[in-house]
Amino acid sequence: MKNHTQTKYTKPSSLTRFGQLLSTIFSLTYWKWTAKRFAYNAINNVRGLRLAKIGEDTNIHPTALIREGEFVTIGNHCLINHNNLIQAGKSKNGSITIGDYVHTGANVMMIAFNHGFYTRDIPTKQQDYLEAPIVIGNDVWIGGGSIILAGVTIGDGAVIAAGAVVNKDVPAYTIVGGVPAKILKNRE
Ligand SMILES: CC(C)(COP(=O)(O)OP(=O)(O)OC[C@H]1O[C@@H](n2cnc3c(N)ncnc32)[C@H](O)[C@@H]1OP(=O)(O)O)[C@@H](O)C(=O)NCCC(=O)NCCS
Repeated sequence: MKNHTQTKYTKPSSLTRFGQLLSTIFSLTYWKWTAKRFAYNAINNVRGLRLAKIGEDTNIHPTALIREGEFVTIGNHCLINHNNLIQAGKSKNGSITIGDYVHTGANVMMIAFNHGFYTRDIPTKQQDYLEAPIVIGNDVWIGGGSIILAGVTIGDGAVIAAGAVVNKDVPAYTIVGGVPAKILKNRE
Protein backbone atom coordinates (compact mmCIF):
# COMPACT_ATOMS: atom_id res chain seq x y z
CA MET A 1 0.00 0.00 0.00
CA LYS A 2 2.36 2.65 -1.28
CA ASN A 3 1.37 6.30 -0.61
CA HIS A 4 -0.84 5.35 2.33
CA THR A 5 -0.32 6.98 5.74
CA GLN A 6 -0.69 4.92 8.88
CA THR A 7 -3.25 6.66 11.13
CA LYS A 8 -4.09 5.75 14.70
CA TYR A 9 -7.86 5.42 15.31
CA THR A 10 -9.27 6.04 18.76
CA LYS A 11 -12.89 4.94 19.11
CA PRO A 12 -15.09 7.87 20.29
CA SER A 13 -16.72 7.47 23.72
CA SER A 14 -20.50 6.99 24.04
CA LEU A 15 -20.76 10.56 25.35
CA THR A 16 -18.96 11.92 22.27
CA ARG A 17 -21.28 9.88 20.05
CA PHE A 18 -24.34 11.20 21.90
CA GLY A 19 -23.07 14.77 21.42
CA GLN A 20 -22.64 14.07 17.69
CA LEU A 21 -26.20 12.73 17.57
CA LEU A 22 -27.66 15.80 19.31
CA SER A 23 -25.70 18.29 17.21
CA THR A 24 -26.87 16.48 14.08
CA ILE A 25 -30.54 16.34 15.06
CA PHE A 26 -30.58 20.04 15.95
CA SER A 27 -28.92 21.08 12.71
CA LEU A 28 -30.75 22.63 9.75
CA THR A 29 -29.15 20.01 7.49
CA TYR A 30 -30.95 17.23 9.37
CA TRP A 31 -34.37 18.82 8.99
CA LYS A 32 -33.77 19.71 5.33
CA TRP A 33 -32.74 16.08 4.74
CA THR A 34 -35.82 14.80 6.59
CA ALA A 35 -38.16 16.97 4.49
CA LYS A 36 -36.37 15.93 1.31
CA ARG A 37 -36.56 12.27 2.27
CA PHE A 38 -40.31 12.62 2.89
CA ALA A 39 -40.84 14.24 -0.52
CA TYR A 40 -38.56 11.66 -2.14
CA ASN A 41 -40.59 8.76 -0.76
CA ALA A 42 -43.87 10.31 -1.87
CA ILE A 43 -42.67 11.06 -5.39
CA ASN A 44 -40.53 7.99 -5.99
CA ASN A 45 -42.24 5.26 -4.01
CA VAL A 46 -45.86 6.28 -4.28
CA ARG A 47 -46.49 8.55 -7.30
CA GLY A 48 -45.25 5.98 -9.81
CA LEU A 49 -47.29 3.22 -8.18
CA ARG A 50 -50.42 5.37 -8.36
CA LEU A 51 -49.96 6.31 -12.01
CA ALA A 52 -48.71 3.03 -13.51
CA LYS A 53 -51.18 0.57 -14.96
CA ILE A 54 -50.65 -2.55 -12.88
CA GLY A 55 -52.43 -5.84 -13.55
CA GLU A 56 -54.08 -8.28 -11.18
CA ASP A 57 -52.09 -10.46 -8.81
CA THR A 58 -48.93 -8.45 -9.51
CA ASN A 59 -46.62 -7.82 -6.58
CA ILE A 60 -44.38 -4.76 -6.63
CA HIS A 61 -41.90 -4.86 -3.75
CA PRO A 62 -42.12 -1.67 -1.64
CA THR A 63 -38.44 -0.93 -2.26
CA ALA A 64 -39.00 -0.86 -6.04
CA LEU A 65 -39.22 2.55 -7.69
CA ILE A 66 -41.45 3.31 -10.65
CA ARG A 67 -40.59 6.68 -12.13
CA GLU A 68 -42.79 8.47 -14.67
CA GLY A 69 -45.41 5.82 -13.89
CA GLU A 70 -47.89 7.36 -16.33
CA PHE A 71 -45.84 5.66 -19.07
CA VAL A 72 -45.50 2.28 -17.35
CA THR A 73 -47.75 -0.75 -17.86
CA ILE A 74 -47.21 -3.99 -15.95
CA GLY A 75 -49.30 -7.09 -16.69
CA ASN A 76 -50.91 -9.70 -14.47
CA HIS A 77 -49.19 -12.17 -12.11
CA CYS A 78 -45.83 -10.34 -12.15
CA LEU A 79 -43.25 -9.92 -9.40
CA ILE A 80 -41.10 -6.78 -9.37
CA ASN A 81 -38.45 -7.49 -6.77
CA HIS A 82 -36.32 -5.63 -4.20
CA ASN A 83 -34.72 -2.36 -5.29
CA ASN A 84 -35.83 -2.51 -8.90
CA LEU A 85 -35.87 0.76 -10.82
CA ILE A 86 -38.47 1.06 -13.57
CA GLN A 87 -37.56 4.39 -15.12
CA ALA A 88 -39.74 5.43 -18.04
CA GLY A 89 -38.98 8.52 -20.11
CA LYS A 90 -40.73 11.87 -19.90
CA SER A 91 -43.18 11.00 -22.70
CA LYS A 92 -44.83 7.95 -24.22
CA ASN A 93 -41.79 7.65 -26.50
CA GLY A 94 -40.04 6.27 -23.43
CA SER A 95 -42.79 3.95 -22.24
CA ILE A 96 -42.16 0.66 -20.46
CA THR A 97 -44.57 -2.20 -21.12
CA ILE A 98 -44.25 -5.47 -19.21
CA GLY A 99 -46.33 -8.55 -20.04
CA ASP A 100 -47.88 -11.21 -17.79
CA TYR A 101 -45.98 -13.61 -15.50
CA VAL A 102 -42.79 -11.51 -15.66
CA HIS A 103 -40.55 -11.76 -12.61
CA THR A 104 -37.36 -9.97 -11.74
CA GLY A 105 -34.53 -10.55 -9.30
CA ALA A 106 -33.23 -7.85 -6.97
CA ASN A 107 -31.61 -4.66 -8.27
CA VAL A 108 -32.91 -4.84 -11.82
CA MET A 109 -33.05 -1.54 -13.74
CA MET A 110 -35.14 -0.72 -16.79
CA ILE A 111 -34.22 2.69 -18.19
CA ALA A 112 -36.11 3.98 -21.23
CA PHE A 113 -34.14 7.15 -21.93
CA ASN A 114 -30.65 8.46 -22.47
CA HIS A 115 -29.27 11.89 -21.85
CA GLY A 116 -28.39 13.52 -25.15
CA PHE A 117 -24.70 13.96 -25.90
CA TYR A 118 -25.07 15.25 -29.46
CA THR A 119 -23.27 18.54 -28.89
CA ARG A 120 -20.21 19.47 -26.83
CA ASP A 121 -21.60 22.99 -26.29
CA ILE A 122 -24.26 22.04 -23.75
CA PRO A 123 -23.60 19.90 -20.65
CA THR A 124 -25.13 16.43 -21.17
CA LYS A 125 -27.28 17.00 -18.09
CA GLN A 126 -29.00 19.85 -19.95
CA GLN A 127 -29.39 18.24 -23.36
CA ASP A 128 -32.72 16.80 -24.51
CA TYR A 129 -33.54 13.25 -23.57
CA LEU A 130 -33.36 10.54 -26.20
CA GLU A 131 -36.19 8.14 -25.44
CA ALA A 132 -37.15 4.72 -26.79
CA PRO A 133 -39.71 2.25 -25.43
CA ILE A 134 -38.90 -0.95 -23.57
CA VAL A 135 -41.23 -3.86 -24.25
CA ILE A 136 -41.04 -7.07 -22.23
CA GLY A 137 -43.13 -10.06 -23.32
CA ASN A 138 -44.92 -12.65 -21.22
CA ASP A 139 -43.21 -15.19 -18.94
CA VAL A 140 -39.84 -13.39 -18.93
CA TRP A 141 -37.47 -13.99 -16.03
CA ILE A 142 -34.99 -11.15 -15.46
CA GLY A 143 -32.06 -12.18 -13.25
CA GLY A 144 -30.76 -10.03 -10.41
CA GLY A 145 -28.68 -6.95 -11.18
CA SER A 146 -29.60 -6.81 -14.86
CA ILE A 147 -30.01 -3.57 -16.76
CA ILE A 148 -32.49 -3.27 -19.62
CA LEU A 149 -31.78 -0.25 -21.80
CA ALA A 150 -33.97 2.02 -23.93
CA GLY A 151 -35.38 0.61 -27.15
CA VAL A 152 -35.08 -3.05 -26.18
CA THR A 153 -37.82 -5.62 -26.81
CA ILE A 154 -37.58 -8.91 -24.93
CA GLY A 155 -39.52 -11.79 -26.45
CA ASP A 156 -41.89 -14.13 -24.60
CA GLY A 157 -40.30 -16.75 -22.42
CA ALA A 158 -36.80 -15.25 -22.47
CA VAL A 159 -34.42 -15.52 -19.51
CA ILE A 160 -32.01 -12.69 -18.72
CA ALA A 161 -29.00 -13.98 -16.77
CA ALA A 162 -27.94 -12.20 -13.59
CA GLY A 163 -25.87 -9.07 -14.22
CA ALA A 164 -26.69 -8.75 -17.93
CA VAL A 165 -26.73 -5.40 -19.70
CA VAL A 166 -29.37 -5.78 -22.41
CA ASN A 167 -28.95 -3.24 -25.21
CA LYS A 168 -30.41 -5.24 -28.12
CA ASP A 169 -33.64 -7.11 -28.69
CA VAL A 170 -33.84 -10.57 -27.14
CA PRO A 171 -35.54 -13.31 -29.19
CA ALA A 172 -38.32 -15.32 -27.53
CA TYR A 173 -37.28 -18.35 -25.48
CA THR A 174 -33.58 -17.52 -25.49
CA ILE A 175 -31.32 -17.18 -22.46
CA VAL A 176 -29.05 -14.14 -22.72
CA GLY A 177 -26.30 -12.89 -20.43
CA GLY A 178 -23.16 -10.81 -20.16
CA VAL A 179 -22.21 -7.22 -20.93
CA PRO A 180 -23.51 -6.52 -23.50
CA ALA A 181 -25.97 -9.42 -23.35
CA LYS A 182 -25.52 -12.19 -25.92
CA ILE A 183 -27.44 -15.40 -26.47
CA LEU A 184 -26.07 -18.11 -24.17
CA LYS A 185 -28.51 -20.78 -25.28
CA ASN A 186 -32.13 -21.47 -26.14
CA ARG A 187 -34.73 -22.67 -23.71
CA GLU A 188 -35.50 -26.33 -24.33
C1 LIG B 1 -28.92 -17.67 -16.71
C2 LIG B 1 -28.97 -18.82 -15.71
C3 LIG B 1 -30.42 -19.12 -15.39
C4 LIG B 1 -28.33 -19.96 -16.47
O1 LIG B 1 -28.49 -21.15 -15.81
P1 LIG B 1 -28.08 -22.54 -16.54
O2 LIG B 1 -29.06 -22.96 -17.58
O3 LIG B 1 -27.86 -23.50 -15.43
O4 LIG B 1 -26.77 -22.20 -17.35
P2 LIG B 1 -25.31 -22.72 -17.15
O5 LIG B 1 -24.87 -22.51 -15.74
O6 LIG B 1 -25.25 -24.12 -17.73
O7 LIG B 1 -24.48 -21.74 -18.07
C5 LIG B 1 -24.58 -21.74 -19.49
C6 LIG B 1 -23.57 -20.74 -19.99
O8 LIG B 1 -24.01 -19.44 -19.62
C7 LIG B 1 -22.99 -18.76 -18.87
N1 LIG B 1 -23.66 -17.99 -17.83
C8 LIG B 1 -24.47 -18.43 -16.84
N2 LIG B 1 -24.90 -17.42 -16.09
C9 LIG B 1 -24.37 -16.30 -16.61
C10 LIG B 1 -24.45 -14.95 -16.24
N3 LIG B 1 -25.18 -14.54 -15.23
N4 LIG B 1 -23.79 -14.05 -17.00
C11 LIG B 1 -23.04 -14.45 -18.06
N5 LIG B 1 -22.92 -15.75 -18.44
C12 LIG B 1 -23.59 -16.66 -17.72
C13 LIG B 1 -22.17 -19.88 -18.27
O9 LIG B 1 -20.87 -19.44 -17.96
C14 LIG B 1 -22.18 -20.88 -19.39
O10 LIG B 1 -21.25 -20.49 -20.37
P3 LIG B 1 -20.26 -21.59 -21.04
O11 LIG B 1 -21.17 -22.58 -21.71
O12 LIG B 1 -19.42 -20.79 -21.98
O13 LIG B 1 -19.53 -22.21 -19.90
C15 LIG B 1 -28.24 -18.49 -14.38
O14 LIG B 1 -26.83 -18.54 -14.57
C16 LIG B 1 -28.60 -17.10 -13.86
O15 LIG B 1 -27.99 -16.08 -14.18
N6 LIG B 1 -29.65 -17.06 -13.02
C17 LIG B 1 -30.16 -15.83 -12.45
C18 LIG B 1 -30.18 -15.96 -10.93
C19 LIG B 1 -30.92 -14.83 -10.31
O16 LIG B 1 -30.74 -13.67 -10.62
N7 LIG B 1 -31.83 -15.17 -9.42
C20 LIG B 1 -32.68 -14.20 -8.81
C21 LIG B 1 -33.92 -14.86 -8.36
S1 LIG B 1 -35.33 -14.08 -9.04
